[in-house]
Amino acid sequence: MKIIFATHNKHKIEEVRHLVDKRFMLLSLQHVDLAEDIPEDYQTLEENALFKAKFIFQKTGIPTFADDTGLEIAALNNRPGVFSARYAGKNKNDQANMDKVLKELKNADNRLARFRTVIAFVWNDGKEKLFEGIVNGKIGLVKKGKQGFGYDPIFIPDGYNITFAEMPLDVKNSISHRSRAFRKFTSFLNKEFLNDKA
Ligand code: IMP
Repeated sequence: MKIIFATHNKHKIEEVRHLVDKRFMLLSLQHVDLAEDIPEDYQTLEENALFKAKFIFQKTGIPTFADDTGLEIAALNNRPGVFSARYAGKNKNDQANMDKVLKELKNADNRLARFRTVIAFVWNDGKEKLFEGIVNGKIGLVKKGKQGFGYDPIFIPDGYNITFAEMPLDVKNSISHRSRAFRKFTSFLNKEFLNDKA
């Protein structure tokens, strides 16, 4: 069975390829010759992910999933949230995004935060399902570490006293929001389409 991951991000495709059962043929947007950008103009992670998956399913008729992630900071009313990539401006600059968060949290006692990933899966006509993965933690006082990407240098997950950017990538991947959402999604796929009883 063919299945499309509606992303242009090659790293994400490779990360997910390890998680999806080999009996599924995992396709990227390049495989199906769709180079155009998919709009992400909505106000929630759920709407963005669902729109992307539906957009590609409608064009191809092939079951499609899409993901969207945000960093939700309690003291900032869950901002940057769905606006995480462009928080400090259109050019998606990780350093500027982190600087903006650190400035907004200056002197804040409450530094609680979480990463949240939503995966939307659309198949057949009108069938759709959402999967969520969350990792709770807090925002550090300064940037630390060189691994990973995005907000990793300022995010300290619960149970650790180092940031995501200070951890080996496999440790981050084993507890991350994205891997939690993807484990729920792949176990659904296996049950629904491979009659996996596990
Ligand atoms: P996307 O929906 O996966 O493209 O994520 C949107 C934005 O959230 C990214 O541009 C990053 O700024 C941030 N983000 C997503 N996942 C992570 C992560 O694992 N670590 C740090 N930042 C992340």
